[in-house]
Amino acid sequence: MKKILVTGGCGYIGSHTIVDLIENGFEVISVDDNSRSTLYALNAIEKITGVPVKNYTLNLTDFTATRNIFLENKDIVGIIHFAAYKAVGESCELPLMYYENNLISLINLLKCVQEFKVPHFVFSSSCTVYGNPDSIPVTENFPIKKAESPYGATKQMGETILQDFSKVSATTSILLRYFNPVGAHPSGLMGELPLGKPMNLVPAITQTAIGKLPKMYVWGNDYPTRDGSCIRDYIHVCDIAHAHTLALQYLLASKNKSNCDVFNLGTGDGVSVLEAIKTFEAVSNVKLNYEIGPRRSGDVIAIYANNELAVQLLGWRIQYGITEMMDTAWKWELKLKNDKIV
Ligand code: WQD
Repeated sequence: MKKILVTGGCGYIGSHTIVDLIENGFEVISVDDNSRSTLYALNAIEKITGVPVKNYTLNLTDFTATRNIFLENKDIVGIIHFAAYKAVGESCELPLMYYENNLISLINLLKCVQEFKVPHFVFSSSCTVYGNPDSIPVTENFPIKKAESPYGATKQMGETILQDFSKVSATTSILLRYFNPVGAHPSGLMGELPLGKPMNLVPAITQTAIGKLPKMYVWGNDYPTRDGSCIRDYIHVCDIAHAHTLALQYLLASKNKSNCDVFNLGTGDGVSVLEAIKTFEAVSNVKLNYEIGPRRSGDVIAIYANNELAVQLLGWRIQYGITEMMDTAWKWELKLKNDKIV
């Protein structure tokens, strides 16, 4: 079996991707410092797949420790790099922590890729690199606009670092630009483990619905959109996960068009905040306690993907719609409460 190193493997998207990789015949090892995750996800992966996954508990800004992974695993054929801090607001308060963690980790990894000649590398990027697009849907050749936050800047810089590295390396890479990953594994055994007050929409909805939060706010309903609230491209985490498996298979089959291909990972459908709330209420049969609040600084008015490249070249097929996204997210929130996980 081909061995893949998943960084951030204990995290939300990383853990769902490990499940998909194992189900598609890959051997997987993880590295995660568990600063923003726990080993709970690895247990869930084993329950779902029957396969135990080894995690190297270290921070990738420690080059010596990172290099040791490659000394111990000379047969890594690909890396999927998720490990990064990703809270937009926190990154504005602690920019140096974000630049150090997100960029030094990537550079250390790529130094190991170079030394150990790892053939393939997949980078977790984000639609945040597009900023406020001039039109929608966005395609991969849309201009990269000035990032709204240090978090977004680290994604843009990460893409540039990888593009420049790809020009001088035999390693083939892919940048995957996620839109808004939401939902949970259909088994109900795994989902997003929220740490602290939720900043993202769907955890805020489910935590309000279950009573962890007394109410939530819709940050602005006076935008120039069909119902005044912001529009996003919500994409199920399992669809995102499978796209990573397809990206690796694409590289392994040498189908890549360049040494650093780029793909949007979104459904291509825009959903407003108020529409997302209405869908949740219909799915959960819970009336959500929310108020209209002020606009949130840095919010993009509307963005959703043109995903034709991923569909045509990776063979990606979206399996989940907004209803299943809300249904799986709600079922996961109910499990967190019933099992007292957090
Ligand atoms: C979506 C919409 C909010 C919470 C960010 C990053 C992106 C990715 C996902 C990491 C906005 C509104 C939210 C709430 C609300 N991060 N909202 N009330 O900002 O589109 O994307 O997170 O991978 O890179 O940029 O996602 O879920 O925070 O917000 O009204 O309590 O929901 O204002 O319009 P966002 P989000």
